[in-house]
Amino acid sequence: MKLHVGLIGTGGWAQVHLSALQESPYVERVTLCGRNAARLVELAATSSKVVATVPELDQLCNDPSIEVIDIVLPHDLHAPTALAALAAGKHVICEKPAGLSLAQFDEVAAAAERAGRRWLVVMNQLYNPRFEALQARVADGLVGRPFLLVENAYSNHTRWYHDPQSWRTRLSRAGGGVLIDGGYHMVYKHLELLRPFGLPRWVQGDAAQLNLTSSGAELADRGEDFVQFVVGYDGPLRIGASHSWSMPATAGRPWEGFLAGSQGVLDISAGIDGPVVLRSNAGEEAIPLPPILSQPRPDSMRLCLADYLAAMAEDRPPRWGGVAAARATLAVVLAVYESARTGVRIPLTP
Ligand SMILES: NC(=O)c1ccc[n+]([C@@H]2O[C@H](COP(=O)([O-])OP(=O)(O)OC[C@H]3O[C@@H](n4cnc5c(N)ncnc54)[C@H](OP(=O)(O)O)[C@@H]3O)[C@@H](O)[C@H]2O)c1
Repeated sequence: MKLHVGLIGTGGWAQVHLSALQESPYVERVTLCGRNAARLVELAATSSKVVATVPELDQLCNDPSIEVIDIVLPHDLHAPTALAALAAGKHVICEKPAGLSLAQFDEVAAAAERAGRRWLVVMNQLYNPRFEALQARVADGLVGRPFLLVENAYSNHTRWYHDPQSWRTRLSRAGGGVLIDGGYHMVYKHLELLRPFGLPRWVQGDAAQLNLTSSGAELADRGEDFVQFVVGYDGPLRIGASHSWSMPATAGRPWEGFLAGSQGVLDISAGIDGPVVLRSNAGEEAIPLPPILSQPRPDSMRLCLADYLAAMAEDRPPRWGGVAAARATLAVVLAVYESARTGVRIPLTP
């Protein structure tokens, strides 16, 4: 089956989607959609599969030859665009987080179910072969029974908060700050890594603006630049994580992480794209993993889209990133925000 895909959005990440569509043997044609005419021309020139450029979503929806609409837009446009595409009988691939609330998410899920169409939310970092190998080893008992997963990541993206053109950190458009954006990847990787060991039951979190203004005063309509949270599972299993976007310079340890289990501690302090070492009473063991991707984010994106497109063409589920996994991820993100607002522990319903 050869697909005709309508790609909507012409920003930075749409370029990565387009190169994945270009590479996929299941994609024959691409129609690009966006409101920026110059950018449409520029993007179209990078792919031999682009057969048309159009300014409006309706033109993708009304083209009967298009089977799939791929949404690479700001967060607030994900659900309305997906609903329109599904109503037109298209399959949908959508960038994360796919909705700003669980109600919105569920509305799209129900629409996809009713229409009998795919709705695949991008969770590309699960497709990093090193993550996949590590997940399989942990599921096989590499650390015994996991009880504590820790990840802390600190970086500098403060410019997005001050850029008047950026939707990225605006509460009304992005639905939050660092957690619903970069932190979303962190959350789905945690949930998948620990999936064989139980269900997440509650979240306690803090989310704040720490370093956006010189006085520390809050910026209106901006999401958090710092988040810290605990996810509690049945029994003795916890995730403790934090993420910040507003370091003034690279921190001494910009990233740290480990997975502690009954048999050992897996040191992932250089991330999965660095050396991974298991420490136990028996000593230290370097864990062999597949080679590091040359560009982990875009390369994992290409692997993710390759599988989503193959899954549609071959009428099978994708290897990763089902609707349940995307919903569970959004549920954790929104629970952190609710906990930060209310100061209470938020239960997660399976
Ligand atoms: N999976 C990953 O690793 C990853 C990485 C990066 C981004 N993303 C996700 O990809 C999505 C897009 O991010 P991005 O970095 O590509 O953002 P971006 O560079 O800001 O691009 C956003 C696109 O949306 C268009 N747009 C904005 N507002 C619009 C509106 N009201 N109506 C129609 N079009 C509108 C923009 O058009 P103009 O140029 O005309 O404004 C632009 O084409 C987000 O969901 C983001 O979270 C995922």
